[in-house]
Amino acid sequence: MSRVLLGVSGGIAAYKACELVRLLTRRGHEVRVMMTAGAVEFVTPLTLQTLSGHPVRSELFAPGEESQISHIELADWADVVVLAPATANLIASLAQGLANDLVTTVCLATRAAVLVAPAMNVNMLQHPATQANLATLQERGVQRIGPDRGDLACGWTGEGRMVDPEVIVAATERLMRPAVLAEEAVLITAGPTEEPLDPVRVLSNRSSGKMGFALADEAAKRGAEVILIAGPVSLPTPIGVRRIDVRTAEEMRSAVFAEFEHATVVIKTAAVADYRAADTVDQKIKRESADTLEIKLVRNPDILREISAAKGERTVVGFAAETENVLANARDKLKRKGCDLIVVNDVSRADIGFDVDQNEVTIVGPTAEETTRVPLSSKVEIAAAILDRIIQVRKT
Ligand code: CTP
Repeated sequence: MSRVLLGVSGGIAAYKACELVRLLTRRGHEVRVMMTAGAVEFVTPLTLQTLSGHPVRSELFAPGEESQISHIELADWADVVVLAPATANLIASLAQGLANDLVTTVCLATRAAVLVAPAMNVNMLQHPATQANLATLQERGVQRIGPDRGDLACGWTGEGRMVDPEVIVAATERLMRPAVLAEEAVLITAGPTEEPLDPVRVLSNRSSGKMGFALADEAAKRGAEVILIAGPVSLPTPIGVRRIDVRTAEEMRSAVFAEFEHATVVIKTAAVADYRAADTVDQKIKRESADTLEIKLVRNPDILREISAAKGERTVVGFAAETENVLANARDKLKRKGCDLIVVNDVSRADIGFDVDQNEVTIVGPTAEETTRVPLSSKVEIAAAILDRIIQVRKT
């Protein structure tokens, strides 16, 4: 749990601050809100006070308010300061180092990390003054998220929309994590592969990609550079992650090797199809009169084995889905593939594994002592446990 100080400034996106407070408190963070005079015109302090469970402050010198907590105490209290929405005026004031209202004064006084989520008209955003102000903030280490492109409340379409509250929450949480993986470049493969049989049919599997995406998100939150090579899945790209979409095992292999040189950790969560059709069929396979149809399959390259053979100083982690003799098979696979760790789950159980949010895994190392079980948890928690383990391996 962290202490998030949310500064709301006066733009139409201020209404989204309500949802942002709800999401942050629901995730267990303590939230206090400060508002500019402009923001109060858009949302009532009472709404934000009710949602955050704390009095909302908007004035720098208000005797009644000041007796509760001073602006300096507020600045010191915060672990993270989030400015959402951050208007052009607020961004300009911060760049100038002004302290002419509560929000700017607190921003000048705080030693906490600051995140801005700009929201404004596209022309205001593109104005050289705003661009210069944003560049100044960036040089000073202020983090920025967005803005997005889309329809703007002012009637224009373009860049300037504040990013969605969920995205701000993810960026905020990333700022809270100690950047323990700052030195690492983590390459992750996720999802299934899809091997074409003809122009309309594919050979694939039920992997949802959720585990790999959770790992990518968690690794980015811990400061790693993350490259996510994804098979066909319908999941949003985690913030701060570079994503490369692929379809077949061959495409995945090429993408992995294109990024491999640079990576220090490789995690292969992808459920790669072991076989593909031997012949590429350009026309749709017609229903023949015969009751059976034979399709000749050929073996796909084993990407995990290939990268393990070339791994050098890198840490390589494989995944295994097993239905019987789970641990023995996993240890055998670890040896066969030559990787450092194998994360195994028992897919004979319906409540865990493919396409569900919960999972129970065992992280298998070369010996029994190096093997740890992670009890039934969310894929986010599993991702955290796997990364903790990888960090241990990297230290030894
Ligand atoms: N893997 C891979 N390339 C393949 C097949 C699998 O890189 N062509 C990787 C997966 O990403 C995963 C690990 O190998 O990390 C284990 O996959 P699995 O299918 O369980 O292994 P197999 O070698 O196919 O073993 P099995 O005999 O159990 O099918």
